Amino acid sequence: MSLRGDYNLAAADFSVEQDWSAYSEADHALFRRLVARQSKLVPRYACPEWITAIAGLDADAGIPKFDQISKKLRAKTHWEIVAVPGLIPDEAFFTHLANRRFPVTVWLRKPEEFDYIVEPDVFHDFFGHVPLLFDRVYADHLHEYGKGGLKAMRLDAVKMLARLYWYTIEFGLIRTPAGVRAYGAGLISSGGELAYCVADAAPKRLDFDLEKALRTDYLIDRYQSSYFVINSFAQLMRETAPDFTPLYDRLRGLPALAP
Ligand code: PHE
Ligand code: CO
Repeated sequence: MSLRGDYNLAAADFSVEQDWSAYSEADHALFRRLVARQSKLVPRYACPEWITAIAGLDADAGIPKFDQISKKLRAKTHWEIVAVPGLIPDEAFFTHLANRRFPVTVWLRKPEEFDYIVEPDVFHDFFGHVPLLFDRVYADHLHEYGKGGLKAMRLDAVKMLARLYWYTIEFGLIRTPAGVRAYGAGLISSGGELAYCVADAAPKRLDFDLEKALRTDYLIDRYQSSYFVINSFAQLMRETAPDFTPLYDRLRGLPALAP
């Protein structure tokens, strides 16, 4: 992988120390600006579970100390945050999730990347992903996903499982009494796509379909043209619970679907 981030000091599991004192005041100010922009959007477009959790995380104070967040997480859902230099290999990623550790990138984007970055940074990982780890059902589902990832490696099915992650954990929508809302981290951390995914007439919003999600390719450099909508995290948990082995075997023979 050719990746941004300093991997030299990473341990075998790709974890690093979060050197919190190394963040500059400009870094914290940029983080606060990112939080401030999203804070205008999330009441309208993010799911209630995310909104409830962010309130306890002091996100508008600046880049958080991961240790303090982990303490709260452990108490609530037995998850913790592990600091990483950036994207990490599949096996390390799945192993962390399978042990209820969520990898959070330590570096923050540059000011000129305010609107868009290709790789996840601390703002995306923290603001997008971490709050939902406080929801018990979501947290348990992500744990199962991690174990499923290790299994998919043995079955040579990581590509299919990664599509599911994309269409749920990163870009998923959920029905609420107030209407469709975003729970995907790629949406919640996006300045433009968060309103687009919920309110724009252009994209398709399809009922969640496990097989379709596993088969559908995705675009990483533009807004999604289709989103999958779940009814609840319990539904996601339930529908992903069966053994995927026969499903992988069957889908492997079928062509991928266009996004
Ligand atoms: N049930 C899946 C399997 O047997 C694992 C999984 C769980 C995948 C939750 C995604 C989400 O492989
Ligand atoms: Co992400």
